[in-house]
Amino acid sequence: MSQSHGQLDSVMHESRLFPPPAEFATKSQIGTLEQYQELWNRAAADLPGFWAELAREELHWFEPFTEALRWNEPVAEWFVGGKTNASYNCLDAHLDAGRGERTAIIWEGEPGDTRTLTYAELHRQVCKFANVLKGLGVQQGDRVSIYMPMTPELAIAMLACARIGAVHSVIFAGFSAEAIADRNNDAEAVMVITADAAWRRGRALPLKQTVDDALKKSPTVKHCIVLDRVNEAVHWEPGRDHWWHDLMREASEDCPATPLDSEAPLFILYTSGSTGKPKGIKHTTAGYNLFVKKTFQWVFDHRDEDVFWCTADCGWVTGHSYVVYGPLSAGAAVLMYEGAPNHPAQNRFWEIIERHKVSVFYTAPTAIRAFIKWGEDLPKMHDLSSLRLLGTVGEGINPEAWMWYHRVIGGERCPIVDTWWQTETGGIMMSPLPGAIATKPGSCCVPLPGVVPKIISSGADLVADDPKQQAGDKTEVPGGWLTITQPWPGMLRGIWGDDERYREVYWTKAPGRYLAGDNARRDADGYYWIMGRIDDVLNVSGHRLSTIEIESALVSHPAVAEAAAVGRPDELKGEAVAVFVTLRNSAPSDELRQELKQHVRTQIGALAQPDDIRFTNSLPKTRSGKIMRRLLKDIAAGKESVGDTSTLEDYTVLATLRSDEE
Ligand code: WTA
Repeated sequence: MSQSHGQLDSVMHESRLFPPPAEFATKSQIGTLEQYQELWNRAAADLPGFWAELAREELHWFEPFTEALRWNEPVAEWFVGGKTNASYNCLDAHLDAGRGERTAIIWEGEPGDTRTLTYAELHRQVCKFANVLKGLGVQQGDRVSIYMPMTPELAIAMLACARIGAVHSVIFAGFSAEAIADRNNDAEAVMVITADAAWRRGRALPLKQTVDDALKKSPTVKHCIVLDRVNEAVHWEPGRDHWWHDLMREASEDCPATPLDSEAPLFILYTSGSTGKPKGIKHTTAGYNLFVKKTFQWVFDHRDEDVFWCTADCGWVTGHSYVVYGPLSAGAAVLMYEGAPNHPAQNRFWEIIERHKVSVFYTAPTAIRAFIKWGEDLPKMHDLSSLRLLGTVGEGINPEAWMWYHRVIGGERCPIVDTWWQTETGGIMMSPLPGAIATKPGSCCVPLPGVVPKIISSGADLVADDPKQQAGDKTEVPGGWLTITQPWPGMLRGIWGDDERYREVYWTKAPGRYLAGDNARRDADGYYWIMGRIDDVLNVSGHRLSTIEIESALVSHPAVAEAAAVGRPDELKGEAVAVFVTLRNSAPSDELRQELKQHVRTQIGALAQPDDIRFTNSLPKTRSGKIMRRLLKDIAAGKESVGDTSTLEDYTVLATLRSDEE
């Protein structure tokens, strides 16, 4: 569960209600509760028909589709027989409509350099880079790994892959060489696109060097394209390595988008599940594209004059859907920022909002908690009056953090959209529509049109929830597993190379429905509240981590016999990683503790580094041999810091006392 007990208590008792401001609602596409309900009910009555109509309106079709949905649980095919292209929908469609001179990307680098690309310019760059890919032999269906800083070139690389039907796999630039190699090998990537280095808090992170290490173990990768971002000296393998700017100099600007089947894979994105091996979540072309475009327009109430800023990195799904594919399909002006929120100072974000007149700002609760800690004087130094709408994603937001966001950043005039979704869902599933739905701090409010959620107690056993669900239903559901009962266009199409795991993880424990992996409840107004995970997935600063993945990394160290990782509540990160370790022959010491932290960094990446490591002579287990995670969680939560002593503790005594409970 990702919230501390304190937060759970507060979301259970939250009753404040914030109706859409009248002026805001008047200008919204969906500006009344009735309009939302009408749309939701119409969608639920005929899902394929509802989405088909939107698909015809919103996407460019080289060939029209003949069937809206072919559903062979758990495999969906949307818009069967049609041919489209996500890069066309994001670029050419706007040029065709005479909107090529509008701003597509406003970019700010961490050192302060800025660039603005119009749709026409972005189109030109994407065409050229698509020709670069072709020139190095990349073909439709090939997988291309991307390990880059948040520069326009990252979006260009993604869109160029989409243009020729290559499948991108973006790897967050904080992952280790081991993690990159695993992903290259699982996807059998033919190419890696990277940069010499990335700016992070004024320092250059050596991305190319990490990729070099990964490529020693990535036999399928034939080429590596390197963007010169920082001007760092890099190791070079002639024949394999190529500078971005060298290749682009020669490339032709003429590259028509390839007409692709609706179900042609668009990207793979690896995410943590409850096993040691990250899952390659597969998304395809037409359904995903439609879903992110419509959800972008609905949730962010998109208007032509908006400057939209989603602070997520393209290494995560939020960056895919709401930095690149959603807003660009909608023709929005997207702000992209390369660096840290506290560089050179803790007011960087407010400076950016003021400088570029950002009107819609979408960030994560972990960032908001950091802003709160840094103090409200900083945002108050800046003119934030351009803002009209705020959003959050990635984890539940504590009602008090919501109130701070509302008051200090939103000046009490901006609605807040708390958006619940997942890598697997492709786009936002639940959120207030800001012109139509009164918000409650800490609740993701209501399902979007075309999304039919149901909370069940466990297995197929239904909690009292009306099977003929209608928008505006007010049946209270006390709490249980959150499931989605009907396919939706943005849903994952599987786990790369592992159909069985896809079925098992998402479709067996709650037969006939998509099991999201979150607990939720629905209140007497029909509002949904996400109550944390049902599995051993941690949510650390809004990032998903698997406890087993961390444990596997630890036991791969020669000193470690056994390891158990659990989450413990953390004020800033939401959850911190606490691990309990038994040793083989080594004695516990602070040096070893540091070495193990470093080991996890090299195995997975800095984001997985344990915050606490405790040595024990045995792990508490039940009689049947299961590690007593609940007990360990309690122990981890009990003490804020481990202290300097490196004693070997013994939790088996506690285990004996508690063994009946587990
Ligand atoms: C959690 C991020 C509460 C949830 C888009 C989910 C949330 C997981 C919210 C997916 C929210 C995301 N309220 N919890 N608004 N948004 N989560 O795949 O546990 O990185 O299952 O996708 O984050 O994380 P992922």
